[in-house]
Amino acid sequence: MKKVITYGTFDLLHYGHVNLLQRAKSLGDYLIVGLSTDEFNWNMKHKKCYFGYNERRRLLEAIRYVDLVIPEESWEQKISDVKEYKIDTFVIGDDWKGKFDFLKDYCEVVYLPRTPEISTTQIKNDLKK
Ligand code: CTP
Repeated sequence: MKKVITYGTFDLLHYGHVNLLQRAKSLGDYLIVGLSTDEFNWNMKHKKCYFGYNERRRLLEAIRYVDLVIPEESWEQKISDVKEYKIDTFVIGDDWKGKFDFLKDYCEVVYLPRTPEISTTQIKNDLKK
């Protein structure tokens, strides 16, 4: 069984996220999402989430492409996650291109093109208008 992992915040879940998850799953048989915790978002990514961790997790778990959601609590955990879950492929949107090449020592690394013209930030900004 080929195992794939991706990471992200996935706040205000939108079709760009679903496109990413669908393509990530198509690279293997089992998809794990490392979901940034509220603390990690705030302290490390300087993002405040609209939905808390448990709500974001439940939304992801309701998506057919997602097999398991685990917490992302630090930048450093990726190597240990890849080893622990015996990951074959790490995948993420190409806004992160090159940033996770160090994982190539442990698994395949794939950067997928982002879906144009949609993001959580965009949704928040549009609603303010
Ligand atoms: N993603 C994507 N296409 C989009 C938006 C996001 O493929 N239009 C991907 C990202 O590249 C990442 C994953 O979805 O691999 C989770 O992204 P996240 O940062 O949570 O979503 P964004 O909508 O980009 O949120 P923000 O605006 O807060 O950065």
